Amino acid sequence: MKALILSGGHGTRLRPLTYSQQKQLIPVANKPVLFYAIEDVIEAGIHEIGIIVGPNAEQVKKVVMSREWDANIEFIYQGEPKGLAHAILVARDFLGDEDFVMYLGDNILREGIVRHKKYFEENDFDASILLQEVPNPQQFGVAELSEDGKTIKRLIEKPKVPPSNLALVGIYFFKPVIHEAVRNIKPSWRNELEITDAIQWLIDHGYKVGWTKVTGWWKDTGKPEDILDANRLILDDIETDIKVNTKARIHGRVVIDEGTEIDENTVIKGPVVIGKNCRIKNAYIGPYTSIGDNVVIENTEIEDSIILEGSEIRNAGRIVESLIGRGVKIINGTAHPLGRKLVIGDNSRLIL
Ligand code: TTP
Repeated sequence: MKALILSGGHGTRLRPLTYSQQKQLIPVANKPVLFYAIEDVIEAGIHEIGIIVGPNAEQVKKVVMSREWDANIEFIYQGEPKGLAHAILVARDFLGDEDFVMYLGDNILREGIVRHKKYFEENDFDASILLQEVPNPQQFGVAELSEDGKTIKRLIEKPKVPPSNLALVGIYFFKPVIHEAVRNIKPSWRNELEITDAIQWLIDHGYKVGWTKVTGWWKDTGKPEDILDANRLILDDIETDIKVNTKARIHGRVVIDEGTEIDENTVIKGPVVIGKNCRIKNAYIGPYTSIGDNVVIENTEIEDSIILEGSEIRNAGRIVESLIGRGVKIINGTAHPLGRKLVIGDNSRLIL
């Protein structure tokens, strides 16, 4: 079996962060979201991985290749992101005539895919999808099951009257017949080749589509609040690993990487992850915070937030539930004229 991991797309809902970087590279608990998907497929014993890349192809390649993986990784250029089924179309040569798992590179699944892959391999399905029970199926792609509950009868995008509370998770198993399906569907109203249409094509042509239920948590990190949520969920499982000497007062589970200096007037309450070469002084770092490499924090309280690498935060009061990009400066100045001096990019959000 091969894997096709999608790391293209525009990521409009994550602007302004996605003006300068591909959304699947945004770190959650200091690890790019995309790495969780790669780790899951390798854990499931898949060692041939194709990664679909779009507008920021070179950036994705560089970050992925900065680490060694127990797999052959090939990058596949999609050009314009024209839909999930379009990604399969452009990956035709890479996929050949093998079964494959398609994994959306901005999804994180706590339990991984081992059990789901096994089910697909042990049953005679042409495709198998992952579903999770959700309280608000109106906001998802939803599955209607067959009478015996074993297969999918219909997929409906954001139904007003949902036939079930089973939402589609961004992971799909396919036999090669899916190539025929993606060749035969037409673009949707939003001008994309939809994977739900390709799966529906299979069902309508007599192919069997099975499903498995996701029991642990699943997060689609398409929006800022989802990224903060995923950060909380991942940090819930970390174990203490402090690689430096510090006199800071530390409570709970905390990870601190090499070269970071934290003074004795700082209090850290885990779960917290702090990267390399940070300088933290007279600060409070509260639960569910991830701080990237080379960050400076002084005289500031931060809680429940993600701070990306190279940012500098001084005398900034209390920061909560925030997602702060790379190289950002937040400084409470004392020079006249007093008042807020802002250089803020397009589509930024500032809640003062
Ligand atoms: P989406 O989140 O549905 O789309 P998007 O990335 O364009 O984001 P937004 O709606 O905020 O503009 O995409 C799901 C996943 O699939 C995501 O990881 C991006 C990836 N993708 C591709 O690789 N190629 C594509 O053509 C599309 C539509 C998405």
